[in-house]
Amino acid sequence: KADSPYSLLTPERLKEVLKPRLKFTHKGTYGNALLVGGSYGKIGAITLAAKAALRAGVGLLTVQTPMVGYSILQVAVPEAMALSDAHEQHITAFPEEVNQYQCIGIGPGLGQAADTALALEKLFRQALPPLVLDADALNLLALDRQLLRNLPANSILTPHPKEFERLASPAKHDYHRLQLLKDFCQEHECYVVLKGYHTCIGTPTGECYFNTTGNPGMATGGTGDTLTGILAGLRAQGFSPLDTCLVGVYLHGLAGDLAAEQEGEYALIASDVTQYLGKAFQQLL
Ligand code: APR
Ligand code: MG
Repeated sequence: KADSPYSLLTPERLKEVLKPRLKFTHKGTYGNALLVGGSYGKIGAITLAAKAALRAGVGLLTVQTPMVGYSILQVAVPEAMALSDAHEQHITAFPEEVNQYQCIGIGPGLGQAADTALALEKLFRQALPPLVLDADALNLLALDRQLLRNLPANSILTPHPKEFERLASPAKHDYHRLQLLKDFCQEHECYVVLKGYHTCIGTPTGECYFNTTGNPGMATGGTGDTLTGILAGLRAQGFSPLDTCLVGVYLHGLAGDLAAEQEGEYALIASDVTQYLGKAFQQLL
């Protein structure tokens, strides 16, 4: 093992993790993921995450939105099962039987309503399947330190630098941000995907992996939501939290690169990343 905690994410390492699907398998083999998010005006975010989770190969997908998102989701993502919250505009309670899911992804478009925070608090007091937390789920954690202390071990968090700053503290420079990342992952026993050019994955044991795929065409609204879907979809299939982060982040960036080859960086949108995810898988397999 190298004596540096830093390493580059190379396709060689990932090829050992990602295997072709076995013939005698069925949708039950590939897990049931639950995605929770969306609020009035932000149903698109959870829809993007849902489409990406499906393209990441999950066996079954359930998506919970507030009432306003129910029909939108059923039309936009017919492959997913839809659950509706009792509230019209935002999430107020998570589903009863969360242990039927192999992963729960929470956050895209979620909003920061007070009763959404309460629902998250209640969720964290239960025995839970693996979690992927993004966007407003992270902002709610940052607002309530007790909630952050109750974060289930081995959760995957996917902040952009501003969200990470809210969770940890402002970084004086880029190297300082890396130190904050390592400290945060060790203290909270979690995996943090710190997003940007060269996304950095921090682990509870203090390692950092830098991604080598992705391009500035991906600097456009919704590409983070697609990453959340990919990670939840992979984690539900039984990949370890580390393998989920390494494979998911690499494929997300590679899909963005393949999309940019065809569409160019200016015109690239989040849906293109999802559209090229299949090609990215093929390149890695
Ligand atoms: N090079 C490579 N990758 C990039 C680049 C770049 N220059 N810029 C962005 N990306 C990638 C990041 O690595 C990340 O995976 O695009 C993704 C952007 O994710 P987010 O910053 O979360 O963006 P977005 O999907 O729009 O977030 C949606 O959630 O985080 C909240 O406030 C945010 O309202 C926003 C919503
Ligand atoms: Mg985001």
